[in-house]
Amino acid sequence: MSKPVLILTLAGLLVASLAPAQAGSARTSILEKLQNEAGTAFSAERGKVLFSSTHKGGKPKTNSCTVCHTKSPLKTGKTRAGKDIAPMALSKTKDRYSDPKKVAKWFRRNCRSVLGRECTALEKGDFITFMSTQ
Ligand code: HEC
Repeated sequence: MSKPVLILTLAGLLVASLAPAQAGSARTSILEKLQNEAGTAFSAERGKVLFSSTHKGGKPKTNSCTVCHTKSPLKTGKTRAGKDIAPMALSKTKDRYSDPKKVAKWFRRNCRSVLGRECTALEKGDFITFMSTQ
C-alpha cells in the first residue's frame, strides 16, 4: 500500500469508528432534554406499549406505529406510499434518534397521525428507551 493510500485508509477507519460514538452522544443529549421536561424516569416497557398498541384519536388508517414500522422493531417498515423505512431498533439502524431535528419532525408528524396529538416528552423518552434495548 502506498503512503497516501495508507493515510487515507487510516483516516477512513478513524471516521468510521467515531461516527457511532458521535451518534451516541447526540442521542444521550436528546434523551437528557426529554428527561428534564418529563421529570420521570423513562420506561422501555411503556415505550413498547406505545409502539405496539392500537390508538384512538388519530387517522383510522394509521392507528398504530406498527402500521408503518411493522410489529417488529427489527424489521424494515413501509411508508404509506410503499417506500422502505429502516428498522427502528437501534441494534439494526445505528444512527437512529441522534439528529434532534429529525427526531422532533417525525415524532410530531407520526404522533399526530396515530394519536391525533403530539407525544409528550415522557412518551418520546419511553419510545427511544425501548428502541435502544431492541
Ligand atoms: C404513516 C407511517 C408511519 C407511522 C404510522 C409511524 N411512523 Fe414513524 N416514521 C415514518 C417514516 C416515513 C419515518 C422517516 C423515515 C426513517 O426515519 O427511516 C419515521 C421516523 C420516525 C422517527 C425518527 C427516527 C429517527 O431516526 O430519528 C420516530 C421517532 C418515529 N418515526 C416514531 C414513530 C412513533 C412513536 C409512531 C407511533 C406513534 C410512528 N413513528 C408511526 C413513518 C411512520
